[in-house]
Amino acid sequence: MSLNPIFIRNANEVITLKGGSSAPVTGSNMKKLHVINNGSIWLEDGKIKAVGDDEELLHQYKNRLHESTVINAQGKIVMPGLVDPHTHLVYAGSRENEFTRRLHGSSYMEIMNAGGGIHATTKATREASFEQLYIESKKRLDAFLLHGVTTVEAKSGYGLTVESELKQLEVAKELNKSHSIDIVSTFMGAHAIPAHYKKAPEKYVELIIDEMIPKVVERKLAQFNDVFCEKGVFSPQQSRRILLAGFNHGLLPKIHADEIEPYGGAELAAEIGAVSADHLLRASEKGLRMMAENGVMGVLLPGTALFLMTECANGRNMIDLGVPIAISTDCNPGSSPTVSMPLMMNFACLTMGMTPEEAITSSTINAAHAIKCGHEIGSLEVGKKADVLILYAANYRQLQYHYGVNHTDTVIKAGKVVVKDGKLLR
Ligand code: NIG
Ligand code: FE
Repeated sequence: MSLNPIFIRNANEVITLKGGSSAPVTGSNMKKLHVINNGSIWLEDGKIKAVGDDEELLHQYKNRLHESTVINAQGKIVMPGLVDPHTHLVYAGSRENEFTRRLHGSSYMEIMNAGGGIHATTKATREASFEQLYIESKKRLDAFLLHGVTTVEAKSGYGLTVESELKQLEVAKELNKSHSIDIVSTFMGAHAIPAHYKKAPEKYVELIIDEMIPKVVERKLAQFNDVFCEKGVFSPQQSRRILLAGFNHGLLPKIHADEIEPYGGAELAAEIGAVSADHLLRASEKGLRMMAENGVMGVLLPGTALFLMTECANGRNMIDLGVPIAISTDCNPGSSPTVSMPLMMNFACLTMGMTPEEAITSSTINAAHAIKCGHEIGSLEVGKKADVLILYAANYRQLQYHYGVNHTDTVIKAGKVVVKDGKLLR
């Protein structure tokens, strides 16, 4: 079915983020949003065909106005669909009991080591049917879309058996086909050591390398391979082995690095040329410098730091060191049960010393690069996918100023309106 062209006109601001499609944006360039005042955009065949000032586009398309759906964006802003580059989208169950325990002083790792945490969600996810996981995850995707997110990365890691890991990834694959949000999948069998491998963790590492990775690749279920490199979980040596094994099968490495304790995760990411190192709350200055030198994206998760009631990653310092930065929700039932990228942008400013411009760059073009999609999405440029938001805000700084507010008015995914007046179209 071919779609009518969409002509969005007269936006107060069109935030284009142009110029960053070939490589992640770093340093002072993260502040350059390339805003067009009184701007317009023409979308056709699922792609962006023209972006510019309203008069210019009106002149260019005056003979085709009748065949287009015209949307008046006066008083609003237009920007690229948000990209969430780090989620644990597919899971079952809920862990509000642990939230209460943590409020009373238990730590995240204490709860996990006592069989809760990731292990609790693993139990619920293993027990859930494919359909149940599909339905629960779809609800989360709908909520992401209502918050202006048009692409998410989704990790496995709550199965921890061959069968259950594949089930999680199959659910993500099915949702990618049926839902308007695009899903980029990551295999994360190395999310925790399952209880019955506790005495022989190397055996679990071998299971990941010898069985899980080949099956995931054979069934084309993931593009990335991630490891929770953390004291008491996977050591840097084990993480290196798992990531290199994945790489040899074509899976690109990502790392949950230095989240709870400094553990050499940032250094490892730089050494093996990971696509991204995520969390980085306790990353060393040396590791961060190595990441900057090797162009490894830092994916920062400010909601997780808040929810675990711990000190944030120093986003300001990382940007100043030249590390390319993206931000994400880390959506998961334990350390960040949220779907709100707009809130993460607020937190990036309020808790990590980032500017509104840097927060936007981190949620669009750099987030796209964090999942190797920077050439296709993340900015409003001719030829890119027509993933476009119209937001209730007079200028982009209001997005950061009204914190905790969802400004989403309209979401256009691949040239089709999927959210209108803040509501999902079915
Ligand atoms: O990114 N730290 C490891 N993984 C997730 C949390 C998973 C969970 O607690 O269920 C994270 O924070
Ligand atoms: Fe995570």
